[in-house]
Amino acid sequence: MRVITNILFSLLIFLVACKQEVTKDVERGTIAMNGAVSSAHPLASQIGVDILRKGGNAYDAGVAVQFALAVAYPRAGNIGGGGFAVIRTSEGEVNTLDFREKAPLAAHEKMYLDEKDQPIKNLSVKGHLAVGVPGSVAGMVTLHEKYGRLPFKVLLKPAIELAENGVVLTDAEAKTINRYHDLFREVNPQGFVFTTKDVWEQGDHVTYPALAKTLKLIQENGRDGFYKGKTAEGIVGEMKQGGGIITLEDLEKYEAVWRKPLKSSFRVYNIISMGPPSSGGVALLQLLEGWEQLSNPKWKHNSTESIHLMTELERRVYADRATFMGDADFVDIPITHLLDSSYLENRFASISNEKATDSQIIKAGEVERIESYETTHFSIVDKEGNALSITTTLNGNFGSKVFVKEGGFFLNNEMDDFSIKPGVPNQFGLVGGKANAISPEKRMLSSMTPTIVEKGDDLFMVVGTPGGSTIITSVFQTILNVTDFGMTMQEAVNAPKLHSQWLPDKIVYEKGKMKRVVLDELKAMGHVLDSTTQIGRMDCILRLEDGSLEGASDRTRSDGVALGY
Ligand code: GLY
Repeated sequence: MRVITNILFSLLIFLVACKQEVTKDVERGTIAMNGAVSSAHPLASQIGVDILRKGGNAYDAGVAVQFALAVAYPRAGNIGGGGFAVIRTSEGEVNTLDFREKAPLAAHEKMYLDEKDQPIKNLSVKGHLAVGVPGSVAGMVTLHEKYGRLPFKVLLKPAIELAENGVVLTDAEAKTINRYHDLFREVNPQGFVFTTKDVWEQGDHVTYPALAKTLKLIQENGRDGFYKGKTAEGIVGEMKQGGGIITLEDLEKYEAVWRKPLKSSFRVYNIISMGPPSSGGVALLQLLEGWEQLSNPKWKHNSTESIHLMTELERRVYADRATFMGDADFVDIPITHLLDSSYLENRFASISNEKATDSQIIKAGEVERIESYETTHFSIVDKEGNALSITTTLNGNFGSKVFVKEGGFFLNNEMDDFSIKPGVPNQFGLVGGKANAISPEKRMLSSMTPTIVEKGDDLFMVVGTPGGSTIITSVFQTILNVTDFGMTMQEAVNAPKLHSQWLPDKIVYEKGKMKRVVLDELKAMGHVLDSTTQIGRMDCILRLEDGSLEGASDRTRSDGVALGY
């Protein structure tokens, strides 16, 4: 009976989401007066709204959504990964929380190189050695301790029920699981829930009893329910039998850390974003400063001029990222200098309006794409105006593919976000150097860019997306789509996106979404062009003039839904 109820509930949520699309002005997202949640999964968004309705604040809802995504969206939602939270309270207090994974104590700089110092194929991407010490559970406990209002136990309840009652797969979810079938079997010869069928289909119903038990341990014991006892032993047991190096000591030592937020002005807005160990905030602020210095208000959205300037800014910003960025607990990062407007004016002075600059000072290797750019983001605003922007990840789809069978969850492959050798690109084609070299207990550099925008003294926008290295440029474009190109939140989310990142030296655009004449003009300027199926899957909220909220999830590129009340 509960299973049928759950299936009907899932259907209802999808119908609500579809109805919103049909009956509302198609250019606007979901309009809500009291609170909004935009996430990659309808059940997670609904759980977030339910918590808000019960009197929880945005941070309570955030904790509930994070755990709900760990059940309903296992490709990226997680308890075996990590992430970052950007916070702005209704009082205007801003804060950021780092729950990024860490390198295990036994990790070392050359752990992915052979005896000839050459990278061993896929070792940092797949299997037990690719796993960093997870941070998500510590992150949610720490977030709740400082900002939560409802009891922690209440916030875990919906995810536990979801795991027990099960989730109905969408077509996209079934296809994604099928795509990884062979890898799942290779990494988990003992089998687990996703290997019980050869082909999953839309409408299949999956329950997660082991995950429900783990969530109950977390509900009862907080962080100790994950980092000690049965769950920790399950992780370490999995490591031992698969050749991984995470120990009980690694898990016990893990702490989430409050970091000073990055804050800078852009036109009449203040941008609040994530500092190291994410490169996202620094890169975003550099890009916005360059855009403010050099753009022309007459330029149209996705015109040759605007794409050319974005690309030239991105080329220089991603080169800075590769050189300077890493975990600030381990390396000195000249953040003040990198964000200084005179520095940036000089940095961008070599940009020509006529032709593309050549990035190929360092030749990057060809990137073999064995992963999609996975991660997930959610944005929440409550009725008091408290705002939360969380990007969380296992890194690749289903992370390392290592599934802790007793605990019922996937572990990340975040170690690939370190620079495993200077100049060798990771799965996103990003190169790095010494600043992001592996060291025990160091956090690997991220591109995640959860961001909150103020207009004057007021909350204006909450933004973020998955997408590996394309996260920074997707957030950059989405902000500009609203601030400079006059779009609604939904239009900004839907708009075609492009990406470039210094190396590989090319502009990637969404196939079939760009004007041919613009592509030809960019080519004539010396840009190399490449296409992909999609870039970014934004989940955002915009505060409108009348105080209502426009939640916008990317219905064109995902199953995500923005809900509100
Ligand atoms: N794993 C993707 C990122 O942190 O950038």
